[in-house]
Amino acid sequence: MTKSKQGAAAAPLVAHATTSDSFMQDVIAGLSATPKRIAPKYFYDSVGSRLFEDITRTPEYYPTRSEHEILRMQAGAMVQHFPTGAALVEFGSGACIKVRFLLDAARKLKAYVPVDIAGDFLNAEAATLRRHYPNLSILPVVADFMKPFALPDAVADLPKIGFFPGSTIGNFEPHEAAAFLRHAGSILGQGAVMIVGVDLIKDEAKLNAAYNDAAGITGKFNMNLLRRINRELGGNFKLDGFEHHAYYNRDRRRIEMHLASRARQTVTVGGSRFSFRAGETIHTENSYKYSRQSFAALARGAGWTVLDRWTDAERNFAVCALALDPLS
Ligand code: SAH
Ligand code: AVI
Repeated sequence: MTKSKQGAAAAPLVAHATTSDSFMQDVIAGLSATPKRIAPKYFYDSVGSRLFEDITRTPEYYPTRSEHEILRMQAGAMVQHFPTGAALVEFGSGACIKVRFLLDAARKLKAYVPVDIAGDFLNAEAATLRRHYPNLSILPVVADFMKPFALPDAVADLPKIGFFPGSTIGNFEPHEAAAFLRHAGSILGQGAVMIVGVDLIKDEAKLNAAYNDAAGITGKFNMNLLRRINRELGGNFKLDGFEHHAYYNRDRRRIEMHLASRARQTVTVGGSRFSFRAGETIHTENSYKYSRQSFAALARGAGWTVLDRWTDAERNFAVCALALDPLS
């Protein structure tokens, strides 16, 4: 194939990505709430995005290796669901690594649209991918994928395929996951297919270890949120005043991550003061785990049918192909 002009770097679309105003508002609202909380989307500045990649290389964090195994073995079967000449839209593309299994298996894709909230990281990863796939039109969109955003005009008339790997869907509350799936259906349009990675309910020791790696990378990822608040919002969090907590909540079928105050203390952000009791936490992330049935029910309730489902040999993780129900 010859190098198409679409393969050249295009200016990224920037939609409703996070502004420092909305970051400030959300942090103030979250620290004013009881219990205190901050949304996990704020982990992902460039430092946080790199730390997430480091997590994926820890021996304890099985989801990435398990999903790679599934993609390596099953990408050929997954792309059987792709219409010819489609645009592949990835929600929360991060380092754009997993998509390569699909790009290599689906030779007839017209465009790849990685969507991510971490703009600088996204643009750097898209530039790397362009060097490896010079004939593919790569059109990054910087956006918060929970909010309305437009796809590039260049893909308006193409059939769309969604890709949502990594179990990022697990970081939503179940009702938010359903809202996201509906929203993705409206962005992708009638006839859409979506490939979704889902982490499975399993042995608690394995789950707890994955979020408490011995090298402490997950702790650094969690603590980076406080560094980011200090850096971008002029906060005065003392980093040694907080510690990383992560544990499986069996009743809710989710890993919870928190930043726990080591002592009674007061912190200032944006001119507001926040008091912490010793042991009080900021809830920073949930990572829900699904069974075959609970994920199928979630998808069905949001207007999608599971066409196919693949797991790794240890049944740690599942990748599902979903079809958007007509009229949904
Ligand atoms: N898909 C990659 C990365 C997963 S990490 C993988 O499977 O390894 C989650 C990714 O989603 C990060 O790149 C983060 O920046 C992005 N993300 C999280 N919340 C987001 C939001 N609300 N809108 C857009 N991107 C988001
Ligand atoms: C991106 N997301 C699915 C990861 C997860 O497992 O919930 C983020 C993460 N948090 C701690 N480790 C990894």
